[in-house]
This record gives sequence, C-alpha cells and structure tokens, in this order.
Amino acid sequence: MAIQAPEGTKDLLPGEAQYWEDFKRIAADIFARYGYALIDTPIFEQTELFVRGIGEATDVVAKEMFQTLSGENLKKLIAGDPVKSKSRLSLRPEGTAGVVRAVVQHDLVPQGAPPTKLMYAGQMFRAERPQKGRQRQFNQIGVECLGAEAPSVDAEVIIMLMRFFEAIGIPTALTHLLINSLGCDECRPLYREKLYSYLKDNAAHLCDECLRRAETNPLRAFDCKNPACATAMENAPKMTDCLCASCKEHHEQVKSYLDASEITYTQESRLVRGLDYYTRTVFEVQVSEGLGSQNAIGGGGRYDKLAEEVGGRPTSGLGFALGYERCVLALQATGFEFPPACVCDAFIACVDTTVQGVAFSLLQALRDAGLNCEMDHQNRSLKSQFKLADKLKATLVFILGPDEVQSGKVKVRNMETHAEELLDLAEILQADSKEEVIKNIRRYDSIWQDKKPIS
Ligand code: HAM
Repeated sequence: MAIQAPEGTKDLLPGEAQYWEDFKRIAADIFARYGYALIDTPIFEQTELFVRGIGEATDVVAKEMFQTLSGENLKKLIAGDPVKSKSRLSLRPEGTAGVVRAVVQHDLVPQGAPPTKLMYAGQMFRAERPQKGRQRQFNQIGVECLGAEAPSVDAEVIIMLMRFFEAIGIPTALTHLLINSLGCDECRPLYREKLYSYLKDNAAHLCDECLRRAETNPLRAFDCKNPACATAMENAPKMTDCLCASCKEHHEQVKSYLDASEITYTQESRLVRGLDYYTRTVFEVQVSEGLGSQNAIGGGGRYDKLAEEVGGRPTSGLGFALGYERCVLALQATGFEFPPACVCDAFIACVDTTVQGVAFSLLQALRDAGLNCEMDHQNRSLKSQFKLADKLKATLVFILGPDEVQSGKVKVRNMETHAEELLDLAEILQADSKEEVIKNIRRYDSIWQDKKPIS
C-alpha cells in the first residue's frame, strides 16, 4: 500500500494552501490595526518550558506532547545514560509558552516600556485522538500582549478575535463567545479548596479521572465529557462567586467594555480552559454548526504569572489562539469553497506550430510585466487550447497565427464578453509593467468594457 500522511495530519493541497496564506494575511491586516507585529519562534522547545509554562497536570503536557530527542540523545536514553534536561525537546503543543520565553530571553518588555504586541501563525502538535476538528498537527494563529494589565486590553483582544471571525466570513449568528474569570493567586487557592471539598462530597457521582483530577487540579473536573460528571459539576461552586475584590472589579470592567462595544457574550462559570497558566479573564468562541464536539474555534485569556514561571520578571500578559482547520470547517458549513489556487490573467493560443517561438516570447514578456500567463506546450489544436484556457478561467486569450505575426499584431479576446481586438505585438512585447500592458488593452473599449479584465 502507498504510504499515507501520518494519522491526525492533513495535506493542504493547492487551493487550501493558498487559502491558508490568505487567512494569515487577513489576520495580519486586522491585528496590525491593533498594533500587533509578527514573531516566529521555533517549532520545538525544551520540554521543561511546556511543563513549567502550561502545567504538568494538564492533558496537553501529561498526555499529548510529542517529545523528541536527537539521534545521539536517543541512543543515550536507550543505553540508560543521563540525557540533559536542555536536550529533552518537545514539538510545541501551543504558541504562548514559546512566545513568552522569547519575550523574556530578548527582554522585549523592558521595565517601564509600553506593552509588546505579538502575533504568530504556524503548526502546533498534540498527540490527541484524531477526530473531526481535532488533529495531531494543526495550524493556529495567535496573539500575545505582554505588559498590559488594564481590563480594556482584555476587551480589545476579545473584540479583535470577533472582528477576525467576521472578516473571514463566519456569521456572527453562528459564533458564541463565553467568558469567565479564574481569579488570581489570592482568591484561586481558596476556590480550589472549596471545589476540592465539593468533589470529595460528590465522589460517588464522579469518574475515576475526575477523582484523580480532584487531587492534582480540581478545576479540570469541569472539562470532563462524562455526562454523569457534567451533571454533578452543574452545582459546583463558581469561581466568580469567590473572586477577590480586585479580580471582581477587573472582570466587571472587561464585561462593561464588551457591553459598550456591543459584543454579545455569555458569562460561563464552567469555562476553565485546558492550560494552567491562566489568571483572571478566560474566553472561548464556539460555533453552533459544522464542528460537532470540537466546536471551539478560538480561545485565550490572561496569564499574569507565566513570564515569572519561565524565569522572567513579573510581566502581565494575555492573548488568544484560533484554530485554522476548525475555522475552515465552520466556513464550509455555510457553503464556503476554497478560491482557485491560481488566477490566469492571459492564455496565449497558437493557430499553428510556426508561431510557437513568438508565442513563447509573448508569454515571457507578459509574465515579466507581472501577469499570470499560460500557454500550451503539447501542440494541441486551437480548439483544445481554448478548452484549456476555459479550464484555467483565463480572463484574456492572446491568439497568434501566421497572419498576425506577419503584420506585427496579436488578437486578444475577452473570454467573458468574447469581444476581440488586434493589438500591436511590439508594444506588448516591449511593455515592462502590468500597468503598461493594461493601458494598451484599455484603449479598446470592447475588450476593456467597464470591467477590469485583468486581476
Ligand atoms: P487552545 O484553546 O488550546 O489555546 O487552542 C486554541 C485553538 O486551537 C482552539 O480553540 C482550536 O480552535 C485549536 N485547536 C486546539 N487543539 C486542536 C487540535 N488538536 N486540532 C485542531 N485544532 C485545535 C491555546 O493554544 C492557547 N495558547 C491560546 C492562548 C494564547 N491563550 C493565551 N494566549
């Protein structure tokens, strides 16, 4: 059997690979309005970064990391020799820990400086059980804002995410924004205690995994998909009832900024997110169609302790990441199709093989001028060349025959209106910009009409 792509991975074929580029460009355009600049960090990091940053007891770190070693270190491990901690590497399961590590390493938020706003796009790796919307290698776009405490920044980040979903065409009516606060070092330990007691009191209704979670990280019990656990957790104490005064104030202000911006959200006290670095604001955007159980298309929150956790000075931070593949599934549920991978502005058709040399020069001249062009290289009949031009959805076809070449002309046809004109071949061959070519064609109203014939 032919070798297949590894389980849980997906090839982005030409139409989709181009769309991924467009998707990143739309994000970069929108996020730039809010001051975000691109950062690119390694796809693998020291395992310790994720253990300390994301949390040892999270599913992401405990069960889903692709850990990796160089061949040499693998041999050492097999032989039972010690492998240094910095040689133990893992493919990144998410982008936040790496970005915060880079911010600390390069001192991107010097004391007293304004916040640093960063965005990234790329592959993440989680060894989860693959299913619709859940892959082992997937693409995320994320943003991280370091050095900002104000609740208005939390609201700004959430608004930016919602604007992006609108811009790519996910209808607002299908998105559902959930928000919560997970408190801080002052109020969360007290809440944890309360929740721990609740889990112990309700042990009879909880699965073994939740009972284990009660000991390591009781908040994770809210993530359990077991229906009996979900029912038992409905009456669990709520973090929002246990927030200290300053977390409460922060949370109320985030919500009032969202209200003022007419962003619809639901306060969801069971929203705890699967990564341990969060403090205060957490949020998630879910869609109601196209995704089944993996319905979160994006999520994020504040992580005011993460920089310290990875060895930096105290620096507040917040951000989000959105899943490219899940966004595509949500779009496809509304009838979306990938745009064509390549736009063909012009096709050069030869009446016979005697003009192929001139056609080849014309092809290069048009490409050098900036047009996307094609011609047939297989001596097809004129009829078949037109079929090919149709297939490529060419806007214009340049037709060259011995008569045209003799008189220094080339016929050009607008494939939508079928209007044709004779153009001066030398002028086209000498044009050195797309604009000049267009200017030449534009003189002929029947070709140009009211519409722009060239992309
Ligand atoms: P996350 O919720 O783990 O957050 O992932 C963000 C998004 O990535 C999810 O909403 C989902 O769309 C997508 N995603 C996650 N896992 C998979 C998967 N296995 N297959 C396909 N898509 C997936 C984070 O990663 C945080 N770093 C977000 C953040 C940034 N928080 C603060 N700053």
